[in-house]
Amino acid sequence: MGETATLQVQLNMQALFHWTDARSNVVTRPEDPYKYLQGFGNEHQSEFIPGALPIGQNSPQLCPYGLYAEQITGTSFAASRSASMRNFLYRRRPACVRGKFTKIDNNPTLETSFLHPTEKVHAIPSQVSWSAFKIPDQDSGPVDFTRGIHTLGGSGQPNIREGLAYHIFAINSNMHNKAFVNMDGDFLIVAQEGHLDISTEFGHLYLQPSEICVIQQGLRFKLDIVNQYSLKGARGYIIETWGTKWELPELGPLGGYGLANARDFLFPCADIDTSSTGWWSIVSKQGGEYFQTNQDHSPFDVVAWHGNYIPYKYDLSKFVYHNTVSVDHTDPSINTVLTAKSRDMHAPLCDFLIFGPRWDVAENTFRPPYFHRNCSSEFLARIYGPENAGGRSEVFSPGGASYEAGFTPHGNADERTVGAMYAEMRAMRVGQNQLTFMLESCRSLLFTKWALQDSGVLVTDDIPESMWDSLPDRFGKNEEAMKFLKAMERA
Ligand SMILES: [Fe+2]
Repeated sequence: MGETATLQVQLNMQALFHWTDARSNVVTRPEDPYKYLQGFGNEHQSEFIPGALPIGQNSPQLCPYGLYAEQITGTSFAASRSASMRNFLYRRRPACVRGKFTKIDNNPTLETSFLHPTEKVHAIPSQVSWSAFKIPDQDSGPVDFTRGIHTLGGSGQPNIREGLAYHIFAINSNMHNKAFVNMDGDFLIVAQEGHLDISTEFGHLYLQPSEICVIQQGLRFKLDIVNQYSLKGARGYIIETWGTKWELPELGPLGGYGLANARDFLFPCADIDTSSTGWWSIVSKQGGEYFQTNQDHSPFDVVAWHGNYIPYKYDLSKFVYHNTVSVDHTDPSINTVLTAKSRDMHAPLCDFLIFGPRWDVAENTFRPPYFHRNCSSEFLARIYGPENAGGRSEVFSPGGASYEAGFTPHGNADERTVGAMYAEMRAMRVGQNQLTFMLESCRSLLFTKWALQDSGVLVTDDIPESMWDSLPDRFGKNEEAMKFLKAMERA
């Protein structure tokens, strides 16, 4: 294949699947300025300057270049090898070199207690949807990540290491000489609007719409907006999990590859902050409360590190879809990117699923999602794609969301639903130019007043009256069926 033909194939592949690296050797998009290590679940190591990483031991009597060794454990010391998560960092000053933690104002729209309905959190009996959550404009004053988190709902509580919370973030300001640390659990961050430059103790993660990252419990980070690509500020989603870690789903009969491949998960390279000056504040969240300490140096002063408790990112457009090539609509679990286990081995705390461009080829099949009542609760959000597109029993807008409590009956409710029963069975592309994620949880969530009222973007607090009018009783008009019924009545 000639060079021109190769380039054409590459462009076609990118247009079809919007892969960033189809047929190229580049693992990131052009805007991303950083280098990464690859491989989910690996032991990684990185050093910013040669010789900073001790060889063959963790705690030399004196570390290279006068650095300090510091361990962070993400699991208990004696956890099984397969579960054990820990690091050694080699830094200018250990993290304990800081001032006293003091109480500061909480973020009033952040909630972490969802043990039972209260005045602050409420059950939803069926389904709700939100249009795009508002990004604060400059007239609102600066809203950085620590203040721009708004909790939608959750289940459980972090101080018993049980449960999860769904948040959105909507920000117009960077964290100036400020770091954040979540002592409660892990953040899975979904970029939806704007580009993000996330500083961590392990190096940088660059995130743009369709990319996700995970920043684990207890790790310090600074989330900034890349102004060049974020004229409207930035917005995204956060799935916070307590007492569990995100894992790749089992592949079972799929074999060794498919869905989100381990090699496509990217980990930062060591990158010490040498540019910032002055005092830093570190804001910590514990039990949903905010505390702050100050220090006279950057917390991102790590020169080298090794371990497996490391923030990482993944480009959702690299997901390898699988589905039926014969009949029937495959269960949505086939689209699982990451899963967070609960203590019930048969019920994940949360599955993170996506729906993007792919082929639909099923024959003699009702191709839209079958009508269903799932034991899982379902939360959907569109990262990009058509505005206000219906099609399910909710309204979708990029930057908004929808939720269905477990066992809520639903399916598709537009002309496609009836049309699909009579459609010509030909291979077709679906999900073109759009990307939606779904959270399936065994938990029935409780929702905040901010979600149901103060956000100002709740569209429906149940289904519209006419939602299912396009689904008539066809059985009742089927003459043959009626004959059978009458015959059976006589019998
Ligand atoms: Fe559903």
